Amino acid sequence: MIFFATKSIEKRKKAELLVLPFWQSISSDAENASQFDLPGNLKIAIESGDFKGKQEETLLLYSTDEKEQRVLFLGLGEQEKVSVESLRRSFASLIKFCHHKKLKELNIVFPSIQAMTEEQLVRGIVEGLLLANYSYDKLKHDVLKSNPTVLVKRINFIGIKNQLLQIAKKYALIAEGVYFARDLVNGNADFITPQYLNWLAKSFAAKFPKVKALIFDKKRIEKEKMGLLLAVNRGSLSDPAFIVLKYQGNVKSSDHTVLVGKGVTFDTGGLNLKPTGGMETMKSDMGGAATILGTLLAVVSLGLKINLTVVIAATENAISHASYKPGDVYTSLAGKTVEIINTDAEGRLILADALAYSVKYLKPTRMIDVATLTGAMDIALGKEVTGMMSNQDALADALIRAGFETHERVCRLPLYEEYRESLNSDIADIRNRDTGRSAGAIKAAIFLKEFVKDIPWAHFDIASTAFYDKGRFYHPKYGTGIGVRLLVEFLEQV
Ligand code: BES
Ligand code: ZN
Ligand code: ZN
Repeated sequence: MIFFATKSIEKRKKAELLVLPFWQSISSDAENASQFDLPGNLKIAIESGDFKGKQEETLLLYSTDEKEQRVLFLGLGEQEKVSVESLRRSFASLIKFCHHKKLKELNIVFPSIQAMTEEQLVRGIVEGLLLANYSYDKLKHDVLKSNPTVLVKRINFIGIKNQLLQIAKKYALIAEGVYFARDLVNGNADFITPQYLNWLAKSFAAKFPKVKALIFDKKRIEKEKMGLLLAVNRGSLSDPAFIVLKYQGNVKSSDHTVLVGKGVTFDTGGLNLKPTGGMETMKSDMGGAATILGTLLAVVSLGLKINLTVVIAATENAISHASYKPGDVYTSLAGKTVEIINTDAEGRLILADALAYSVKYLKPTRMIDVATLTGAMDIALGKEVTGMMSNQDALADALIRAGFETHERVCRLPLYEEYRESLNSDIADIRNRDTGRSAGAIKAAIFLKEFVKDIPWAHFDIASTAFYDKGRFYHPKYGTGIGVRLLVEFLEQV
C-alpha cells in the first residue's frame, strides 16, 4: 500500500472511492469528522438517519462527481470515546469493504481529532488500514483464477500534513514485519522447514549489510552439545537448524537485546502424539520464530540505533521409530539433564538450549523469548491478551507499556519459587513437565527460567494469539503476527 497526500479536496486525483469519516452523535445526526465541507447532495444521506456514524459503520453512496463514482461514509464512533484502537478497527472495516468490492485506489478525507496527538491519529488510521489489508491466497489455485482477493494499493489522504505522511510510512515498514511473520506462519509446514528458515536467515544477511548470519547445521549443533534440540529433532526427516542473526545498529553501545524464538515447524507431539483436533494448526508452532524475524525486518528497515540479535532453534517435532522417548534423559547445552515426561512439551526443550547458548556466547543485556508454548494459555487468557512472565519488573513493565501502545495486550503471570518443586525429577536435574494440568503455562516458564541465569529476561507465550481460526478486527484469519509491533515499540524505547 502506498500513501500520498493532497492538500485540499478540490485538488484530489481520480480514485475508485472517496471516503468521508464521521462521528456518531447521540443527540443529533452523524457529524462530519473532517475540516472540509460535505458535498451538498450527500447531506441528505445523513439527514435521512440511515447512517449514524457508529464505530466501523459504513454506508456506500454513488455520486456523479467525475473524481470518484463511489463515496463511502465511515463511522468513527463517538468523538469522546475515540482511541487509537477504535480508529484501527474503523479503518480496518473500510479495508474489508474495499476487499469485498475489489477497490484498489482510495481518496480518504483525513479526519481531525482533538482528543489525541497527530502521531496517535496517524497510527490508528494507518495501522488499521495496513493490518487489515492482507490475505494469504498463495495456496488457492482455482480461486486465484476466478475470484482473487484484490488488495488496496494506493491511498491518497486529503488534508494530511506532510510530516504526518512520514509517520504513516514508518508504520508501513512495521506492517511489512507483521506480514512477514504472518506469511511464515501461514505457509505449509512442508515448505517452511528448518532449512527454509536457514535460507531466509542467509537472505537477510545478504540483503542488509548490518546483519550478520551464523547458521549451525546438525554437525555444528552436535558439536555445541545442544542435546535437547537434537532430542526433539530425532524423529524428523529434516535436520534441525540453529540460527543467529546479529544486527549492529549501534557499535558504540554494549546494550544488546537478544530475542529467542521457538521454531517448531510442525508439532505432532512426538510419541505423545497429539489427537485429531489438536494437530491441525501446528504449522503455526514456529510462530515465535516468525515474530522475531518480522521484528528484525522492521527494526532493520527503520534503521533503529540498537544492537539486536535474533536466535532461532528450529526443528520439526515428528513421530517415527527414531523419535525421542518419554522417560529418557537428555543433556542440555547448559549441562543440566532433563527427564522427558512428555514429548509434546518440546518447545521448552529447544528454547532451553537456545537461551543457554545466548547466555554463554552473546553477552545479552536482556533476553526475550517468544513461543507458542502451551495450550494452557488459551484456557487462561483466550485470544484477548498474550501471557508474559519475567524475572525483572522493569523489563516486564516496559513490555506491558509497549503492549498497551500497540494494543497487543500483555498480562504478566507470576514465577513464584514454589512452582519449581513440580519439576523435580528423581532421575535427572529437572523434568520437562509435571503430571497434572495445573498452572501449565507458568510451569513451562519456570522450566525456561532455569536456563537464563541472572540475565533480565521475559517470556511471551503466544500460543493463543499467534493464530486465529477466524478474523478479528484488523487481523484476518490464521497467522496474526502479534508480537512484532509490540517488540518494535519496545525496542524503539530501549
Ligand atoms: N505447540 C504446543 C502448544 C500449543 C497448543 C500451541 C495449542 C498453540 C496451540 C506445545 O508444544 C505443546 O504441545 N504443549 C503442551 C504441553 C504439555 C504437554 C505440558 C500442551 O500445551 O498441551
Ligand atoms: Zn508440543
Ligand atoms: Zn509445540
